[in-house]
Amino acid sequence: MASQVILGITILALALVQAFAYDPSPLQDFCVADTKSKVIVNGFVCKDPKTVCSDDFFFPGLLNDVRRNTNNRVGSNVTQVAADVFPGLNTLGISLARIDYAPYGGLNPPHKHPRATEVLTVIEGTLHVGFIASNPANRFFQKVLQKGDVFVFPFGMIHFQMNLGKTPAVALSALSSQNPGVITIANAVFGSNPRVSKEVLKRAFQVGDNVVAQLMAQFK
Ligand SMILES: *[C@@H]1O[C@H](CO)[C@@H](O)[C@H](O)[C@H]1NC(C)=O
Repeated sequence: MASQVILGITILALALVQAFAYDPSPLQDFCVADTKSKVIVNGFVCKDPKTVCSDDFFFPGLLNDVRRNTNNRVGSNVTQVAADVFPGLNTLGISLARIDYAPYGGLNPPHKHPRATEVLTVIEGTLHVGFIASNPANRFFQKVLQKGDVFVFPFGMIHFQMNLGKTPAVALSALSSQNPGVITIANAVFGSNPRVSKEVLKRAFQVGDNVVAQLMAQFK
């Protein structure tokens, strides 16, 4: 009996923690971000509703035919459309992103969103996508997606996408936060500011000084 009560309390506590992991519910019809306000709150201060206009709820050309520049080391380019650049999203708990991938292996490298689930739709091309779940099993879920296919990366999981095609690829992601945040694993671990000590990384990755030094050198 006592154990059932404890189990019940634990489940309730976990449910509450989960609820707090998502963006708060709106308290009004809309709260268009006043991104110039000096007031610091959770999100952005609302612009005076009397001055809100249709353009505040509009973001032009996200999926236009203009390719974003993927001429970088990983071969991808993320155009994030969160509340900071699309003020109408403030307090609404959603955002989106366009992702362009270079041909022959353009990669959106392993990363996670600390505040969002992501659902990705392939607009053009062929993508290898996957995510890795929690310890201890660290199960890996993966799929090859074609144009029109959809895949979901659950809240907080480490995930990636790679272009398997000979032509550029484009995807559209929807995220369950107005400000999902991104932590790119390699950049965070080997390129933090200031650096994590080599002793920590050597032991964590079970490698020697030179391997850690080489990895760190990739992130200026
Ligand atoms: C992404 O593409 C835009 C537009 O082509 C470009 O201005 C920007 O520098 C690119 N970002 C990266 C990281 O390559």
